Amino acid sequence: MAACEYEVRLSGCLNGAAACLALSIARESGLLRVFMEPHEPMTIPEIASKTNLKERYIQELLGCLVTSNIIEVDKTSVKYFVPDELRSTLCGKLDSLELLDYASARKEDVKACLAIAGPNGFMAQTKPGYADLQKKFRCIDMDIVIQEEFFHHTPDIKRKLERGINVLEIGCGLASVIIELASRYPNSRFIACDYSAKVISNVTKTIKQRGLKNIKAKKVDLHHLPNKWAGRFDVAYIRYALHDLGQPVRTATEMVKELKDGGVMLVVEIFLKGDNHRENKEEPNAPLLFMLSASVCVPESLCQKGGIGLGSTSGMKSLKNIIYQSGIPVYNIRAYELGAIPNSCKFVCRK
Ligand SMILES: C[S@@+](CC[C@H](N)C(=O)[O-])C[C@H]1O[C@@H](n2cnc3c(N)ncnc32)[C@H](O)[C@@H]1O
Repeated sequence: MAACEYEVRLSGCLNGAAACLALSIARESGLLRVFMEPHEPMTIPEIASKTNLKERYIQELLGCLVTSNIIEVDKTSVKYFVPDELRSTLCGKLDSLELLDYASARKEDVKACLAIAGPNGFMAQTKPGYADLQKKFRCIDMDIVIQEEFFHHTPDIKRKLERGINVLEIGCGLASVIIELASRYPNSRFIACDYSAKVISNVTKTIKQRGLKNIKAKKVDLHHLPNKWAGRFDVAYIRYALHDLGQPVRTATEMVKELKDGGVMLVVEIFLKGDNHRENKEEPNAPLLFMLSASVCVPESLCQKGGIGLGSTSGMKSLKNIIYQSGIPVYNIRAYELGAIPNSCKFVCRK
C-alpha cells in the first residue's frame, strides 16, 4: 500500500472515531433524540429549544456529524435532518455504539491486563455499566430470539416444552430468554445458573417479580456442575457465554453430562468468519468485535483458573473444535444476525 493511501486510511479511522465520539455525546445528552423521531428539517435554534441544549455546542457537534455524513443539512446549510428512510439504520447502529462506549470505558483495565506484571483479567460483572449494557440488550424481540435459538432445527422442543421438560441454562447473565420460556411453558422446569453472585441475585429478583414457580437461579461455576444434575436435562443451553469461560471444553463436556440420552445441547455464540487476522480483514464487524473481546470476553476468561482466553473472535474452527471435544454429535450449525448482535451462530447437538 502506498504511503498516501495509508495516510487516507488512517485519517478515515480518526474521523470515524471522532464521529463516534460526537454520536455518543449526542445520544447521551438528548441531542440525537430529535432526529430519531419523524421530523421536518430543523434550524440550530429550533434544535436547541427542543433539546434544551446550548446552541454553540450543538453547532460544533452537528458540524462533526454532517461532515461525517451521519446527519444531513439542506442546501442553504441551515436546516438539519435525518432522512426518514435512514432513521432505523441509525437507530440500529446506536446499539453497537453503546458497546463501543463500554469498551472505551475499560481502557485503563485493559492496559493494566496487557502489562506483563498486571492482572490476568477481570470479571465483567464487577465493572460499572456492564449490568446496564446487558439490560439494554434484553430489549430484543423474544418471539424472534426463541424461534431462532430454540425452535429452528429443533421444532420438537416446542411440543416437549408444552408437555413438560427440564431445561438448563448456564452462564445465564440476565437469563431473559429462559425466564421468558418459563413464563410461556408452565409445565416445564428451568434452572438458570451463573458464577456471579450479583447475576444470581438479580435473576432471583426478576423471577420473584414475575411470580414464576417453575424456574430457579443457582450460583454455580460452570466448570463444576453438581453431580446430582447428571442425566437430568432434556435441553442444555448456553448463550454468548462459552467464549467467556475459563475452560470451555470442560464446560461443554459438563453440559453433555447433564443431558438425558437424546437430550439437546444448544450453543449460541458469536463468530468471525475468518480463522485468522488476515482472513478477518474481509469481515465488516471485525474491528468492533476484537475490541469488545479484548475489553470483556478475554479478561473474563483469563481471570478464571486455567483460563484459556478464548474470546469472541476465535472463529468457527475453534468453536467447532471445542464442541467436538465434548463428544456430542453436532447435527446443525447455523449462522444468523440478531438485531444489534452481529455474527451470531448456533450449534444444535443431540446426545
Ligand atoms: C456475555 S454474558 C452472557 C449472558 C447471557 N447468556 C446472555 O445471553 O445475555 C456471559 C455470562 O457468563 C458468566 N460466566 C462466565 N464465566 C463463568 C463460569 N466459569 N461459570 C459460570 N458463569 C460464568 C458471566 O458471569 C456472564 O453472566
